[in-house]
Amino acid sequence: MKCCRAHASTGDNMEMTVSVNDNINGTLILPIIEGTESIPEDCERGLPQSMKTQINKVLGDGDFKAKSKTILSLVGGEDGNIILSGLGKGDAVTVHDYRTAGAAVFAGIKKIHGNDFTVRFIDAGVAHMAAFAEGMMLRDYSYDHYKMKDDDNEDDSPKQIRLACSEKEAGELTSLVEKYRGIAAGVHLSRDLGNCPPNDMYPEEFADRAWEWAKQYDNVEVTIINYDQAIKAGMGGLIAVGKGSSRKPCMVVFEMNKEVKGKCPVLVGKGITFDTGGISLKPGANMDEMKYDMGGSATVFGTMEALAQTGHKGKVVGITCMAENMPAANATRPGDVIKGLSGKTIEILNTDAEGRLVLSDGLWKAGEFNPEYIIDFATLTGACVVALGHEATGLWSNNDEFRTRIHEAGNAVDELAWPMPLLPAFEKEMTDSKIADTRNLGAGRWGGANTAAAFLKQFVPNVDYDKDGEQITWAHMDIAGTYWGAKTNTMVKNGATGIHVRTMHHLITQG
Ligand code: BES
Ligand code: ZN
Ligand code: ZN
Repeated sequence: MKCCRAHASTGDNMEMTVSVNDNINGTLILPIIEGTESIPEDCERGLPQSMKTQINKVLGDGDFKAKSKTILSLVGGEDGNIILSGLGKGDAVTVHDYRTAGAAVFAGIKKIHGNDFTVRFIDAGVAHMAAFAEGMMLRDYSYDHYKMKDDDNEDDSPKQIRLACSEKEAGELTSLVEKYRGIAAGVHLSRDLGNCPPNDMYPEEFADRAWEWAKQYDNVEVTIINYDQAIKAGMGGLIAVGKGSSRKPCMVVFEMNKEVKGKCPVLVGKGITFDTGGISLKPGANMDEMKYDMGGSATVFGTMEALAQTGHKGKVVGITCMAENMPAANATRPGDVIKGLSGKTIEILNTDAEGRLVLSDGLWKAGEFNPEYIIDFATLTGACVVALGHEATGLWSNNDEFRTRIHEAGNAVDELAWPMPLLPAFEKEMTDSKIADTRNLGAGRWGGANTAAAFLKQFVPNVDYDKDGEQITWAHMDIAGTYWGAKTNTMVKNGATGIHVRTMHHLITQG
């Protein structure tokens, strides 16, 4: 029988436990380093002779080379099933290889493997085991909310995954797995928000979800600045972008551990729930993908969830700038001049360069929260995708050391953020308006990702808004190429990737 009910999309369908006994429950998963010709005897515990022979034969004959991202499934009937999982080259196997292998295994699980799995590692450190588990958790995601489900054929029972380890390793492995579970929940939340179709994901819906979400945590507060309040506050950038839509814009502020004294990270997100381009209308091809244009805000929300789930004790603030960019009789025109929260005027030369307008208010607002630093996330420019493809996020900063810190946090979790230049020449280009303080479009199309970054820099406040003071440490991350469509990202099958929730969790908690 078919029915149309909503299905959980996230990794709720997996239970992961750490086990110190030798039992093999269900399908055995064996991560193997490239070049391995047979598995050590102590890994064969509990395996029927027929399976041992099969494994050592495929390894010995070179039928399974254990290259990265490959798996081989051995189906042994009553003797059980095995999935061999390739880790790649022997002398350089890293936690990233283990994470990738875990994700590749999860992607390869079929009905025949059942719902119970035991992972047995060969000479792996605890960090490597945990990374494998993390890969499985990250990949345990599909967005099925809008699909008709065939109740009779669908097996919704959770997958039980046991990670086998020694008694000595169990404590550390358990706490790492618990941490990665919390972080994966943040990544999955970011993906859920990004994948949601734009008829159902609009500024107020995002705000409602944030409001509802915050109720489960004592240490998180969400404040919604609605349309009228935004007008009163002078958020001219947000209003200019969102006013042409019947779904009105808003700003959502997340505050975690508000009572903690001192400076704190402030994350700002571009949240365009659909970007038609406005009056500077986009061409039709692939316009549906512009539902992901709120990926920056989803990154901020997802990071908040990851931090909340893992019990972060420090103060963190998130600001999401939500608007739908629509053409309409009352939409902003190319040629309009607006004034934003900072007091600077902006000549709008192209209404499709809207992300920078909403962010100009978000960045200025960030100064109210005594930031240690500000990082903004935005699917900001097609030019960034031209420059870096889908393999790396563009990374700009007004502080070289800080930019390196973010780059390293990205490397630590295998989410590449590539340094890009913030040059005075680009800034000059963006202030060269005949009639306003700034303009939202560069002089030509060259360096479009850099001119966008330079535009944003003008709206990063000085410490305490002191006009003669020092500018707050700031970084801009253009995720136009990495928030979706990254086919080489093994952590996700398709759709929104949830990129940089893990980078931010690492930076904020360990970086
Ligand atoms: N949301 C787009 C950027 C984008 C385009 C992201 C394609 C991912 C894929 C942004 O608002 C935009 O339209 N930017 C323009 C800026 C231009 C008008 C200066 C662009 O990149 O073409
Ligand atoms: Zn646009
Ligand atoms: Zn956009």
